[in-house]
Amino acid sequence: MKHGHRFLESLGGFSVNEKNHLTINSVDLVDLAKLSDRPLYVLNEDAIRKNIKAYQSALSTYYPGKSEIFYASKAFLNLGMCYLLNQEGMGLDVCSEGELFIAQKADFPLTKIIFHGNNKSHTELAKAIQAKIQCIMVDNACELDDILKISEIQATTTNVMFRINPVVEVDTHAYIATGVKDSKFGLDIDDPLTAALIETAFKSHFTHFKGIHFHLGSQVFDFVTYKQAIKKIVAYIKFLNDKGIEVEVLNIGGGLGTPYTINDTSLTIDRFIQELCGQICEEYQLNNLKLPTLMVEPGRSIIAAAGCTLYKIGHIKDYGSDLLYAAVNGGMSDNLRPSLYQSQYSAVIGNKMNWEGPTQEYKIVGKCCETGDVLIQRISLPKCQPGDILIMFVTGAYQHALASNYNKHTLPGILLVREGTYEWFTKEQPYEGLIQNDVVPEHLKKVV
Ligand SMILES: Cc1ncc(COP(=O)(O)O)c(C=O)c1O
Repeated sequence: MKHGHRFLESLGGFSVNEKNHLTINSVDLVDLAKLSDRPLYVLNEDAIRKNIKAYQSALSTYYPGKSEIFYASKAFLNLGMCYLLNQEGMGLDVCSEGELFIAQKADFPLTKIIFHGNNKSHTELAKAIQAKIQCIMVDNACELDDILKISEIQATTTNVMFRINPVVEVDTHAYIATGVKDSKFGLDIDDPLTAALIETAFKSHFTHFKGIHFHLGSQVFDFVTYKQAIKKIVAYIKFLNDKGIEVEVLNIGGGLGTPYTINDTSLTIDRFIQELCGQICEEYQLNNLKLPTLMVEPGRSIIAAAGCTLYKIGHIKDYGSDLLYAAVNGGMSDNLRPSLYQSQYSAVIGNKMNWEGPTQEYKIVGKCCETGDVLIQRISLPKCQPGDILIMFVTGAYQHALASNYNKHTLPGILLVREGTYEWFTKEQPYEGLIQNDVVPEHLKKVV
């Protein structure tokens, strides 16, 4: 691959064919782009499986106790993904009735599902308890109350863990930092009410207290914060243990960052797990505690880099500066992250891979009616023409998941690529999908 595509090389699975087109696992991405007028998300199945295996192998290497991995379905979920995860022996972290519904439709083993969320409704809790999923992650006092009542009505004992906010400084975008002071998620580690709630769950016949969960945030690259959080949480577990409350499970959430550009830090799954497991073992030993079952909940680090998005370039505008505006056939409706978090991305022109001609600086703008609908603020690309295929990388996580019908753009389809072949994973939303739930009241049908 030509110089200048260093980031792309780091992603793996990509190469350039004799037509100078970018391929993924030998599938020509420029040909794939012709399948739709809308953008297309592409997921590399091999890369997803490889990332899962990296977690599995790192945990079996570095953690001497039992461990379980729960894929955080908020990053991306569809029916096929549930099947793939089940084939790989993974658990599933859901945070809504919708995610639970998809998992159930895919016959995902209920005993491998955990339920998160900071405001679970009564119906969500009742359905999760009825389904006998593995565990509910308690976020607040009202929720525990609700769980106890529902479990009593259903004459059952519900497994619960508590989401504890360790209150540390997390180095990530403020919108995705969760383990920080005054976060809307979880129970404050320093609040005496937290321990009182745990004690209630521990003593009740209707709940089985399993353990403690924390999640620092997403797109985190820094061990120091994790280490501080682990230290505080293990000290808290010791405090509970001294009160006679056994903590069988420790869930350290997800959060491992994924590089989106050549300038981002890169931290492998192996290294991340090695460091965290080392710290957990050390803290447990220092506190003279028996090692717990360790749970992790990765989302982004499994699916983000396995995805790319294919766009077509439409109009190009020249305002007389060094930066031309290239508009693509998608935008914030299929990738909200740049507008929401000012996220940066890398891209290439997929049909001009070994380009020897002139390059140009572009701002990549979307087609949504918002000035903030900019996918990439500045990128150097081969001189573009309408019809060129812009391929944006690392779009597997929190893209399709955050997509909307803004401007009534239909949701793009997803293609799953595997060993030189591709298949639809989710079809493009048909226009009918835009109106299927609309109801026109009779009186509006009369023209007077
Ligand atoms: C509780 C919980 N677990 C896991 C995750 C997954 O995080 P990530 O996709 O960064 O791995 C999230 C996402 O923010 C989360 O809120």
